[in-house]
Amino acid sequence: MNVPKFVHSSDFCASSNSKVVVVTAGARQLKDESRLDLLQRNVDIFKNIIPPLVQYSPEAVFVIVTNPVDIMTWVAWKLSNLPVHKVVGTGTQLDSSRFRFLLSDRLGISPSSISAWIIGEHGDTQVPLWSGVNVAGVQLRDIVPNIGLPTDYEKWHEVHKDVVRAGTTVRCLKGYTSSAVGLCVADMVDCILRNVNEVKSISTLVQGHHDIKDEIFLSLPSALGEEGITKIIRMRMTEYEKKLLKISVDTITNAQKNVKV
Ligand code: LAC
Repeated sequence: MNVPKFVHSSDFCASSNSKVVVVTAGARQLKDESRLDLLQRNVDIFKNIIPPLVQYSPEAVFVIVTNPVDIMTWVAWKLSNLPVHKVVGTGTQLDSSRFRFLLSDRLGISPSSISAWIIGEHGDTQVPLWSGVNVAGVQLRDIVPNIGLPTDYEKWHEVHKDVVRAGTTVRCLKGYTSSAVGLCVADMVDCILRNVNEVKSISTLVQGHHDIKDEIFLSLPSALGEEGITKIIRMRMTEYEKKLLKISVDTITNAQKNVKV
């Protein structure tokens, strides 16, 4: 195994010929700010950094972490002129991990043995796909038919409320979030460098999927390899989940319409 080499520089040239470029640059979210409030400040930062990064590494896959990540991934794609599959956002991979962890806590089963996905916005309108949550193919919905819905007397929906609150909770406690998203990025980079096409809930252009007409990025389960996103999985959703996804779509479309790239 190669010994990692760390290079620090303010000259973009230091990043030349990278296979993967991870962008975390951006203003920090203040205590009462939503991820969407950061938008224009971070667009202006991207205008200065994305073009030189692409110039020095035209073959790289770009992994965008900066919030609001769905819109910032679209901004990076616009500024980069790269094929769309090469610009990916961390999206709801982190929310899906938090979801599996909290479910595992309640079920007493390892998170890696729980299949549970969150799609849509990495933010307040994210969509937990309760209809698909399963352990070894056993759907939790077959045991608790209204699982995740407000009518569920076992209150499984509280688990997802904790997922939505997780980012804000960590920010209140330490001022910023870093470790959990860092682990997600490490996992994505590993997936790209080893070209394994693992399916992850990551932010990509969703136009044309699930009747979405807008040119926006949101998370859908997608295969990730050395070329970036190679497949988007057409998963099944209930009518209720489709309605929730539409709220994510409208939220991002609305926030994005005033952005000048
Ligand atoms: C979080 C940041 C990355 O949820 O948005 O931790």
